[in-house]
Amino acid sequence: MTIVDLAALGEEFARDPYPVYARLRARGPVHRIRMPEGNAEAWLVVGYEAGRAALADPRLSKDWNKAAPSFKLGAVSSGRHMLGSDPPDHTRLRRLVAREFTARRVAELAPRVQKTTDTLLDAMLAAPDGRADLVEALSFPLPISVICDLLGVPDLDRRSFRAWSNDALSSTDPDARAAAAAAMARYLVELVAEKRQHPGDDLMSALIHGSDEDGDTLSPDELLGMAWLLLVAGHETTVNLISNGVLALLTHPDQLAALRADLSRIDAAVEEMLRYDGPVETPSYRFTTEPVTIGDTTVPGGGELVLIALADADRDPARFPEPDRFDIGRDARGHVAFGHGIHYCLGAPLARLEARIAVRTLLERCAGLALDIHPAALTWRPGLLIRGPLSLPVRFTPAGSG
Ligand code: HEM
Repeated sequence: MTIVDLAALGEEFARDPYPVYARLRARGPVHRIRMPEGNAEAWLVVGYEAGRAALADPRLSKDWNKAAPSFKLGAVSSGRHMLGSDPPDHTRLRRLVAREFTARRVAELAPRVQKTTDTLLDAMLAAPDGRADLVEALSFPLPISVICDLLGVPDLDRRSFRAWSNDALSSTDPDARAAAAAAMARYLVELVAEKRQHPGDDLMSALIHGSDEDGDTLSPDELLGMAWLLLVAGHETTVNLISNGVLALLTHPDQLAALRADLSRIDAAVEEMLRYDGPVETPSYRFTTEPVTIGDTTVPGGGELVLIALADADRDPARFPEPDRFDIGRDARGHVAFGHGIHYCLGAPLARLEARIAVRTLLERCAGLALDIHPAALTWRPGLLIRGPLSLPVRFTPAGSG
């Protein structure tokens, strides 16, 4: 099988990977690829049906201990966590926090999310020149504030945390990734120690003191992993749902006008944003525990790396007619932007709540909102995991000018 060299495609692939995936899908559901980092080969699953099946396939393990010894990619996370575990560990770790993320529990956070959004938009709209970087002003600070509130770490060093998290997840330099992951692990160990000394009425304190109904406790490594996962998964992705979603609206003026005309369509609009340009391009790694046949190809067992292109699954015309059209009127349900199967995103209700409030309030409060850059000039996050622009310059009618 020929190797598709994603590394050779350079920045153009980060800007617009969709046509590349579509061309691969036309040839079949699984392909041998060289990663954009250029340091490893993997199997890439494209298309909706094959992608969804692979997401739920128990022969594809999330445990790094199952990876072939030749893998020198290095895990980017800290500690042991549910997204890097298979049952029964996964079941246990997920159960410990699942009740915090039910739709009902999350709905109770709405007033907090609204208040934080309002405060951030007050600051953004005060800019006398009517210009802002939406990532800096809203997309980044909102999710990190919400997850820090929930966990009980309001004084997180956000600037350092963001830099480490960005590098650990998206840098194409393996040494930079490892250094960032190590710096973040050191910081989180201190943070957990500090919380242990000064517990509060928050999720992190509850996890430290093992106060779930069954009295289950986390080992220090699991506690570190949980803190890492919730903080990183809780903000890296939601940032890009807000950014990619607003970008889609601003580059589709008819859809923007339709949403402005009837903001009760926000829920459907957010689902379409997730489908059309979701934040997770290919989720974290899976490793074969036995041979797995996809289409006409058998991926060998023994810890081969398998990536699933969620970005392509949600643009498969066999599932979503005219998939490259951004249309807030379509039924986008069934998209796999939050994954599928036992690892289905725990934070989906929270991410949806944040995006609905952020985009709706932005449109309500911000007259004349427009892109302040040509879309082709945006710089995108490198790497296959997270998809989103590094900054999103916008302009708007400044307060008091009419
Ligand atoms: C738009 C925002 C988000 C997107 C697109 C997203 C996407 C995903 C995806 C695709 C997975 C599955 C990965 C896989 O199967 O390999 C996942 C898992 C997960 N997500 Fe999210 N996520 C988002 C927001 C959040 C938030 C806000 C939180 C927490 C506060 C969160 C916590 C998690 C956790 C803990 C897992 C692991 C679940 C498990 O292993 O059982 N996510 N997410």
